[in-house]
Amino acid sequence: MAQEGSRRIFVNAGPIAHFSTGDVTKPLVGIEMSSNEQIYPAGHGFVIESGRFKIIAPTEEIIAEFGQESMVHDLSGKAIIPGFVDAHTHLLWAGDRSNEMRMRQQGMSYSEVAEAGGGIRHTVSQTRGSQSLKQIGQSRITVAKNHGTTFMEAKSGYGLDTNSELKLLETYRDLQIQNPDLQMSATWMGAHDIPHGMARAEYVEELLSDQLPSVIEQGIADSADVFCEPGWFTIEDTEEICKEAKRAGLSIRLHVDEFADGNGLELAAELGAVTADHAIHSSADARAAAAEAGTVQGFLPGTPYVMGSDVWPPIQLCIDEEWPWTLATDFNPNCQSLSIPMTGSLACHRLKIDPIAALASVTRNPATTLPIQDDAVHGVIAIGAIANFNQLNSEIVESWCQSFGHSGILKTWSYNE
Ligand code: NIG
Ligand code: FE
Repeated sequence: MAQEGSRRIFVNAGPIAHFSTGDVTKPLVGIEMSSNEQIYPAGHGFVIESGRFKIIAPTEEIIAEFGQESMVHDLSGKAIIPGFVDAHTHLLWAGDRSNEMRMRQQGMSYSEVAEAGGGIRHTVSQTRGSQSLKQIGQSRITVAKNHGTTFMEAKSGYGLDTNSELKLLETYRDLQIQNPDLQMSATWMGAHDIPHGMARAEYVEELLSDQLPSVIEQGIADSADVFCEPGWFTIEDTEEICKEAKRAGLSIRLHVDEFADGNGLELAAELGAVTADHAIHSSADARAAAAEAGTVQGFLPGTPYVMGSDVWPPIQLCIDEEWPWTLATDFNPNCQSLSIPMTGSLACHRLKIDPIAALASVTRNPATTLPIQDDAVHGVIAIGAIANFNQLNSEIVESWCQSFGHSGILKTWSYNE
């Protein structure tokens, strides 16, 4: 963490993918995402003061002005990219559902696995009894940091009663204090599933009358999320929960249309949701309506990958239509990866997405969906932005997602304050 007024000087950067064109509080769309304008050529350096980029200029200019200072870091011509923003994780849960892979291979669907005693509710029973949530969260955060993540959204949703959901959100607050070099944003997702022994309507009533008011009172979540999917929460439930959450000042991030088109993306647009994630089965009309409403489509290619599904989100269509989109890990008991480079590899190697566009979708674009405190812009390398960046193990920016299965990052520099 940077000390107030401290200065760091970096020189001899390789190409810098900065993503700083136009209004940095808005996502990039279409071919802007992969334009050469997003990359400074090799040879630049920068000065960081109080945790923010202060000057970005050719190395010679930086050396002429600051070369006498003691803290000059040589970046050795390595490519520089912003710190990753993982805008969709279910970070905290206990237990292990690795056995479900074999069930899926034997032909069981996600809901059949849940009906057979697996799925979210199984994780809920393991999580409610856990005394080690903080340690579990810390070790996962360490993995994410080792893969270049400097900003992470983290959802509750494996508690499903007021006390257990509050405990998850409180643990996120503790983990944020313990990890000043990782910016976190907590999302309440009490509406992740219906707890054992309760009818859906009864649980929705509990969410509205007890869980949400307690979360609001404690002030420990920035956003609310609902699993809006046929078989889980209906359009009406989602609308009711989100309207209450919005009234209380939470922003809306949704799970929609993961297994079927349940009109979740249309609803997200109507509600003015900040993001609508998964969105695999949504219609093109709903995607256009989302873009019109400023709702970003959050794609999670790790999920179809682990589910063995061949149905992938239509990312190229979003590029062609200039609809805003992001990528994230969706870390959860089925999809146990906190590696943004692996997520990028899926998009680039499987779905043939341009690696610079994919990089914008894990840096600037997701940062625009998360709360900004004190004008602290994340996900870009620009004057005034939070000075978090990854130094790659290569002189080529596109390397960021090439070494699937491990990280191609030499060092993550994080100056969150
Ligand atoms: O985003 N789909 C809902 N939630 C998670 C999976 C949760 C689980 O299976 O435990 C997701 O994929
Ligand atoms: Fe998810």
